[in-house]
Amino acid sequence: MKRIVSAVFIIVFIAALFAACGQTPAPKETAAASEGTESISAETSVPSESRKDVLVVVFSATGTTKAVAERIAAYTGADLYEIKAAQEYTAADLDWTDRSSRTTIEQNDKSARPQIGSPELSLDGYKTVFIGYPIWWGEEPRILDTFVEKTDFDGITCIPF
Ligand SMILES: Cc1cc2nc3c(=O)[nH]c(=O)nc-3n(C[C@H](O)[C@H](O)[C@H](O)COP(=O)(O)O)c2cc1C
Repeated sequence: MKRIVSAVFIIVFIAALFAACGQTPAPKETAAASEGTESISAETSVPSESRKDVLVVVFSATGTTKAVAERIAAYTGADLYEIKAAQEYTAADLDWTDRSSRTTIEQNDKSARPQIGSPELSLDGYKTVFIGYPIWWGEEPRILDTFVEKTDFDGITCIPF
């Protein structure tokens, strides 16, 4: 009886071993992903063959959106382009409690188009563009309008964040 039990145990053990070996390995985590809490990886986010066609564009006044942009770029292997204001936003400019601060004035004026200081961007070769920006008074910062109006997005899939 003991022999039969031992034989059954060995057969079950070997079967379990084969089943484990046949499983698909878990996708590799990127360095950026392993730093955070998500288990998303480059392999699962964007098909590898299209990653070189991906660009992440970001405007960020205090770094929060930029940090997200950097993570998206790391996950997807995308290039990163930062929209920088020609005249950088100071803490006083960003004071939403001040009715006369620069951002309050800009956001109250739908035609305001703050100048961009970063080099001209060409979207040649890109198929997918993530565009990240903070919310100011429930809308995009006006500098985003400056960027969008002077950029040709024909044939590009845009993903705002
Ligand atoms: C002028 C101004 C207006 C803002 N208005 C809003 C708003 O309407 N709703 C909101 O949720 N957050 C608002 N915020 C907060 C920002 O969206 C938030 O701090 C954002 O994470 C900043 O991103 P950044 O660090 O990339 O610039 C406002 C911030 C500023 C400076």
